[in-house]
Amino acid sequence: MTEHFKMETPATERRLDDMAQGLVGAPLDRPEGPLKVTGTATYANEWQIEGMAHGVMVRAPGNSGRVILANRDDVAKLPGVLAVIQDDRLLRNPAQGTANEAPVQSPHHAAYLGQLIAVVVAETFEQARHAAQSLQVTLENAQMVQVDPATAAVEPQDGQALDQGDLDAAMRDAPHSVDLVYTTPSHSSAPMEPHASIASWQGGDLTLRGSYQMLKYNRNELADSLGIHPDRVRIISPYVGGGFGSKLGLAPEAVAAAIAAQELGRPVSVALQRPQVFEATMRRSETRQRVRLAADAEGRLTGLGHDARVSNLPGESFAEPVLQASHFLYAGANRRMSLELARLHRMCAGSVRAPGEAVGVTVLENAMDELAHEIGIDPVALRLRNIPEKDPESGKDYSSRRFREALESGAEAFGWADRPGVKERREGEWLIGYGMASAARVNVLMESQARVTLLPDGTARVETDMTDIGTGTYAILGQIAGDMLGLPRDRVEVVLGDTTLPPAAGSGGSWGASSSGTSVYLACEAIRRQLAQRLEVDEHDLTLKDGRATYANQVKSLSDILQGDEIAKLGHVKPGDTSTDVRQATFGAYFAEVAVHAASGETRIRRMHGSFAAGRILNAKTARSQCLGGMTFGIGIALTEELAFDPRDGHVANHNLAEYHIPVNADVPQLTVELLEERDDWANPMQAKGIGELGICGAAAAITNAIHNATGVRVRDYPATLDKVI
Ligand code: MOS
Repeated sequence: MTEHFKMETPATERRLDDMAQGLVGAPLDRPEGPLKVTGTATYANEWQIEGMAHGVMVRAPGNSGRVILANRDDVAKLPGVLAVIQDDRLLRNPAQGTANEAPVQSPHHAAYLGQLIAVVVAETFEQARHAAQSLQVTLENAQMVQVDPATAAVEPQDGQALDQGDLDAAMRDAPHSVDLVYTTPSHSSAPMEPHASIASWQGGDLTLRGSYQMLKYNRNELADSLGIHPDRVRIISPYVGGGFGSKLGLAPEAVAAAIAAQELGRPVSVALQRPQVFEATMRRSETRQRVRLAADAEGRLTGLGHDARVSNLPGESFAEPVLQASHFLYAGANRRMSLELARLHRMCAGSVRAPGEAVGVTVLENAMDELAHEIGIDPVALRLRNIPEKDPESGKDYSSRRFREALESGAEAFGWADRPGVKERREGEWLIGYGMASAARVNVLMESQARVTLLPDGTARVETDMTDIGTGTYAILGQIAGDMLGLPRDRVEVVLGDTTLPPAAGSGGSWGASSSGTSVYLACEAIRRQLAQRLEVDEHDLTLKDGRATYANQVKSLSDILQGDEIAKLGHVKPGDTSTDVRQATFGAYFAEVAVHAASGETRIRRMHGSFAAGRILNAKTARSQCLGGMTFGIGIALTEELAFDPRDGHVANHNLAEYHIPVNADVPQLTVELLEERDDWANPMQAKGIGELGICGAAAAITNAIHNATGVRVRDYPATLDKVI
């Protein structure tokens, strides 16, 4: 049944362009949207299961020492309390894909303040919360430990290092150069829906309902934590209220619910409280980045250096991949890059919203703006002049790259030609400035499977354990199947979010739609072949539309062809099925107009535009929404977002949505997005690349560059709060 797929690359077949149904690319609504906005979609903590007990998690009050639950026996006797659990299995490494690695953290030894070290379970949530608050947690042999990235011991990440040509000589000899240091703070994923899990056991089989991004991996992680076979674990996650990286791997509440339910022999629900989401799931590492750029008199880069320091807990392997796009975005023969990981006792660092590029491209784009200013050429012209013909390090071709068009078309749409000089435009008390930046993000394909069944009544069902984290998976997979099988969208049912279905790539890293979509495409391709066989025609002579097949001057309904049978096929794609002999990435450009208050330094975004190219656009509405969301993240990174760590003990001082400032409606003007269609013949048979996180990657720099244009002030320490601008 498995369709083994090895793509002939480049793909010449432009099948989705020719499909009579015409669904792919259309700006169709998300079919689950009404369920979500009317409160009828069941989110993680809304499942009601008979006999369910409630758990509340308990945090470590410091960042070192052995964890002692001093009054554990007294708490266990409080009304309604069923168990106080401090179990070695409780803490998985929260970083992504860590199944089969030994956990670094232990609930018996505090590694950071806020680490979740126990769960208290009671008959009601209120009883559990009261008991958890009554539990006295003390730390034995607590010591002063390192919480400051500036002075921590560092480990070089050799795999990230590059030394090509002679950057020092290029810097020395160049008529124009900049050598700048920028810092970005830690960010929180801050999903609207807190992490929550409900576990129930039937004999040796565990069912977990909750809110996760990558079910296949989550199942393996959970089985690994519990020491059971993954076949014994079922995870159900049909609706996810945002993840942004923090739900790629399981958070401690999932394992806690499973252990508690096993111990008590009844279902247990555990939801993280809002401060716990901020303190104990995942942070983006703060970064310190040095960028060196050397250019000739015409602004052609001769050297590019990018050296970054990020941090994580001792033993944790994740290092924010800050340099990712610096490797391929711009030309420059002499290149040096390095990444080092500082070891310190803040909460675990992991994937948050476009890991790497969100802050790496941002800083590179600030340095490019400073270079353009230094040379005295237009910032757009500087970018255009440095688009490399081939990948500047590997010499490979780019698979597809409408980067030049994004810069030119974006500048045109925005009205970049009217850009004022530095500190030149003033409207009353407001200083007005324009800024721009490039966008770039790697494109990744992940293993993915989906089953598509064409049913006797001429409808189809798509089944995969893929998640929809608000990105439009339900819509897109239905569009792909509808086009391939010639069915209107309402005759395709899409079933997601259950590990009993074929394992998908999960949602993350902008790979979700292209990877899971390819598996649906392949399954449908196999169904088309079988239909053609039945009709004894060449599949390419078969036109499918509105549930009917047209071939050789005949028209027949699918149900007539099927004669009561169903056709079920499994599509399966994995890395290596497409060629890696090219540089695959997505590109774009941002343009922003800001108004900075001359007295207070407050920055308001007046308008912002993004032009993006990411291969075929599968759904113009959901793709645009992803870009709008990305640019909104950019506004947060530029102006307000910062996890504030107490310098004494590393605890998160602003662990809630009131004090961790994500942009709200009043901060975000009407953003405009242009999607530049392209076909990427190397990506997959749909010729689509991932677009999910592209809109974040560099967006903040357009804003801080605009602040410079308005005020003459360079903010090199994010976010650009008003104290740094005046
Ligand atoms: Mo994304 S940060 O890989 O969910």
